[in-house]
Amino acid sequence: MPDTAAGITPLSLPPSILATAAPAIPTARGWAAVYRGEAGPAIDLTQAVPGYPPHPNLLARLGEEAARTANAGYGPIEGEEPLRAALAADLSRRYRDPLDAADVVITAGCNLAFVMTMMAIAGPGSAVLLPAPWYFNHHMALTMLGITTIPLPCRPEDGFVPDPERAAALMDGRVRALVLVTPNNPTGAVYPAETIAAFAALGRRRGIVLVLDETYRDFLPGNDPPHALFGDPAWRDGLVHLYSFSKSYCVPGHRVGAVVAGPAIRTQLLKVLDTLQICAPRASQAALAWAVPALIAWREGNRDVMAARAAAFQRALAAVPGWRIDALGGYFAYLRLPEGAPDALTMAERLGAEHGLMTLPGPFFGPGQERHLRVAFANADEATIAQVPARLG
Ligand SMILES: Cc1ncc(COP(=O)(O)O)c(C=O)c1O
Repeated sequence: MPDTAAGITPLSLPPSILATAAPAIPTARGWAAVYRGEAGPAIDLTQAVPGYPPHPNLLARLGEEAARTANAGYGPIEGEEPLRAALAADLSRRYRDPLDAADVVITAGCNLAFVMTMMAIAGPGSAVLLPAPWYFNHHMALTMLGITTIPLPCRPEDGFVPDPERAAALMDGRVRALVLVTPNNPTGAVYPAETIAAFAALGRRRGIVLVLDETYRDFLPGNDPPHALFGDPAWRDGLVHLYSFSKSYCVPGHRVGAVVAGPAIRTQLLKVLDTLQICAPRASQAALAWAVPALIAWREGNRDVMAARAAAFQRALAAVPGWRIDALGGYFAYLRLPEGAPDALTMAERLGAEHGLMTLPGPFFGPGQERHLRVAFANADEATIAQVPARLG
């Protein structure tokens, strides 16, 4: 054991955590700390949070449920039965294929759902294929778990939709999972059902799990099912679906997410859930079990609000010479910087510090993103979005 003259042994921290990126959002907000308000109030388009409050009845229920003694105790590892059943019914309605409460486990948020899923299906020394640009917390989770990320580059000319054939060519014997996020974070790209089906088929051929994070599915336009994977009688053998209640119900602080998977994966996942969370917050689960069926119309109304914000953002950007929207959907637009502009890191820092416009630079989302910025337009109402051109110009 090393020792120093002062009798203090220096800490030796694991390479996997040292290699993990620092939290992205505080970094970008830090750039705007020096902004003095010259261009008007700061506009924060960094974090994917809905820019409107939760439904008042949900807030009331959260309060009532938190006041119940029963909800102060530990709950079932796999989650509260009423919420599992409510989500299964909601999924069956949305995807038009029957799902069962038994298929669902409830987690303390979708980020934790991802980490726990990776612990159950991958593990140190394995590899996972991640379309790039990626959701930074996915990459951070894999790095800290000692899992190699194999980037699957997505091209602007394809609308940032990943290509299953390119994925097949990148797979080696270490790969345990393919991860897709649709609608995508950071690009907003919505993957066609046929592309998702092709990835599922690839996973099945290679004995690899397809992990589908559909956190933003309630913001897809129209009522067509996002994909038909739950209609495959064998889906439970190779698909893991992840969901977050944070965005759809505006409750990111209450930390509730879900994993939908078959019994073989769930059996392993329960070990991880028991160890990492014991149970998800119980009062939030009880309140959400009410909200899932009760707030369908409210959710659909919010989907329209988001569509209006996306349209307002497109109109706003059309007025700024040189800037281009390369992809858009869900909560996000992925912007191409004008020719000759500085790189994305410099640009995001300057926009924050000098113009009070907080965005995230492409390099936070993986390699090859130096010419892009992510804008979470969901955070801002249409009047605020209308101020964006002046800040970019
Ligand atoms: C794709 C994706 N998955 C998961 C999350 C996190 O969700 P939760 O708040 O449920 O942990 C986010 C939040 O930005 C996200 O964009």
